[in-house]
Amino acid sequence: MLRMCVGYLLLFLYMADAQRQGCNVAPTFWCDDVTIATQCGVLPACADRLFPQFAAQASTVEVGVFFESLCPDSIKFITTQLFPTWLKLKATGIMNITIFPYGKAKMQQDGSTWNFTCQHGPRECRGNLIENCLMNATHNITERYLPVVQCMESAKDPIQAAEPCIVSAGLNWTSIDICASGADGATLMHRVGVATEALNPTLNWVPWITINGMHTDHIQSMAVDDLHTLVCDTYKGTKPAECVHTKLGIAYRHKRIKPSKKIY
Ligand SMILES: *[C@@H]1O[C@H](CO)[C@@H](O)[C@H](O)[C@H]1NC(C)=O
Ligand SMILES: *[C@@H]1O[C@H](CO)[C@@H](O)[C@H](O)[C@H]1NC(C)=O
Ligand SMILES: *[C@@H]1O[C@H](CO)[C@@H](O)[C@H](O)[C@H]1NC(C)=O
Ligand SMILES: *[C@@H]1O[C@H](CO)[C@@H](O)[C@H](O)[C@H]1NC(C)=O
Ligand SMILES: *[C@@H]1O[C@H](CO)[C@@H](O)[C@H](O)[C@H]1NC(C)=O
Repeated sequence: MLRMCVGYLLLFLYMADAQRQGCNVAPTFWCDDVTIATQCGVLPACADRLFPQFAAQASTVEVGVFFESLCPDSIKFITTQLFPTWLKLKATGIMNITIFPYGKAKMQQDGSTWNFTCQHGPRECRGNLIENCLMNATHNITERYLPVVQCMESAKDPIQAAEPCIVSAGLNWTSIDICASGADGATLMHRVGVATEALNPTLNWVPWITINGMHTDHIQSMAVDDLHTLVCDTYKGTKPAECVHTKLGIAYRHKRIKPSKKIY
């Protein structure tokens, strides 16, 4: 705490001097050093990056993906953003993915089980149920289920691809098929449906992306545009090498940080 106060006091003194000059560089460079960040009025927004020793303890960036197995936008997001980003960042441990195969489905209680109606019809429910059962069969371990989901979703027909994708991952198709066709699958998908319906703000688009449990239009548009940069930007610790990757070699190419005249 004391170190933090001293750190911010130093920042403040540095800032008082630097603020007399103007901000003459492109937004991409605003967090490059304390002087520039101060001149450009973005020091608080850059503090975690400039002073990682004072940053809040770096915690894993939680990425939540609420989607539907046959929705074209979900398929595009999984195959062009989620899976490639996971491949690039999985060794760094800075990201933790949880997927929720349900989306805009509806559920209706039927005795002790549940019936589902899916946006793209019964085959989509079948796909969602298979993916829910796949997740449970792999103990929700992203490393084990995500490549299979990618295999399904990148196929011309994700439902038809389920069996070969699951078999080639060394998993037991018969047991996943039994789960997806019965009460176990319904129980699993019901839980995911409850989690989906509890979202705040309410899901009105799929895929629906949350970062550390939060969803805004801005988060959503950045996630579908460049999830890799979004996760790297969100991570508060020292950026791993896998984050120094974008066109400019800096994980800060979005105009996330707006100029501000605020004196702090
Ligand atoms: C990843 O998320 C899962 C589910 O939310 C959680 O159980 C797990 O502890 C998280 N792992 C890390 C490293 O944060
Ligand atoms: C649930 O689905 C079964 C099989 O299609 C049907 O017989 C049953 O009436 C449905 N239950 C409800 C509550 O809609
Ligand atoms: C997977 O996660 C769901 C939701 O948290 C949980 O209900 C289920 O028990 C988990 N499955 C396993 C095998 O851990
Ligand atoms: C696959 O699962 C089925 C149904 O649970 C089971 O009968 C069978 O023994 C399993 N096969 C293997 C190779 O574990
Ligand atoms: C989820 O997997 C666990 C561990 O294999 C199993 O005990 C449980 O029955 C499964 N849950 C459902 C609803 O299939």
